[in-house]
Amino acid sequence: MIGSLDGRVALVTGCTGGIGNVIAASLAEAGATVVGADVAASAPDFTGAIARSSYLQLDVTDEQAWQGAIARIDADHGRLDILVHVAGIVVVERLANTSLEQWRRQMAVNVDGPFLGTKAAADLMARTGADLPHGSAIVIISSVAGLIGSPLHTGYCASKGAVRLFAKACAMEFSALKQKIRVNTIHPSGVKTGMVDHIMQRFVEEGFFPSVEEALAGMAPAHPIGRMADPIDIAKAVRFLVSDEAGYMHGSELVVDGGYTAQ
Ligand SMILES: NC(=O)c1ccc[n+]([C@@H]2O[C@H](COP(=O)([O-])OP(=O)(O)OC[C@H]3O[C@@H](n4cnc5c(N)ncnc54)[C@H](O)[C@@H]3O)[C@@H](O)[C@H]2O)c1
Repeated sequence: MIGSLDGRVALVTGCTGGIGNVIAASLAEAGATVVGADVAASAPDFTGAIARSSYLQLDVTDEQAWQGAIARIDADHGRLDILVHVAGIVVVERLANTSLEQWRRQMAVNVDGPFLGTKAAADLMARTGADLPHGSAIVIISSVAGLIGSPLHTGYCASKGAVRLFAKACAMEFSALKQKIRVNTIHPSGVKTGMVDHIMQRFVEEGFFPSVEEALAGMAPAHPIGRMADPIDIAKAVRFLVSDEAGYMHGSELVVDGGYTAQ
């Protein structure tokens, strides 16, 4: 049983997406006060525990917006215990057809986002972490694409590999500076969200599969555990990593992939 997050304040980016929504709800259910953030002007109608959360419009590629978001959380709550970088995009394209603009946009959301957010939040999270038994906690949702390669994903793999090492370097630096902030990454494989539907559609368009249905049918057996992940599988791993139960996890990569990369 993972401990309660009562009294903790959490910021979750990408909170209107398939995985971010469930992470935000899961942290709220564990007792955290959740601030959800996404690029959209307003939040969709959330139900359950997440309905109690506040919402911030935040483009994670915008440094000023990050500074404003953290200043507002400091003013409203005076602390930030948990930061989960979930916002991300995927470009599914052959290398030869990938434009520099697509490459840069993907890097901006997937890499600049965690960089700018971690930079903006570090002082407040160090202040908050100083009074916690195991410090405050940052989690970046990377991917198995940050560990292994995949066709049509050259830029995505580069971006997810970049944040894996960014997290480890932040962990080393925060410890060297005696700032009590734990930093870890999570590496999911296929998770049932709109992102996977889009990836399958692109594989069909590029001639890898005859139909989206057949592409999706191949996903479950590709995972030794026999199914793709549900967003809650990733949310449970986040909830563990940000809790005091994971107080000794720092600079680590938690692979949540149903055995996909163990083959
Ligand atoms: N779905 C999967 O199979 C899978 C697997 C491994 C890793 N991931 C990663 O998990 C994360 C969430 O993926 P998902 O499946 O929920 O995708 P999703 O498309 O459902 O959600 C992504 C969210 O990010 C938001 N976003 C995009 N650009 C933004 C910006 N500039 N500023 C703020 N928010 C922005 C979108 O609005 C959306 O709400 C991503 O980082 C993705 O790379 C997903």
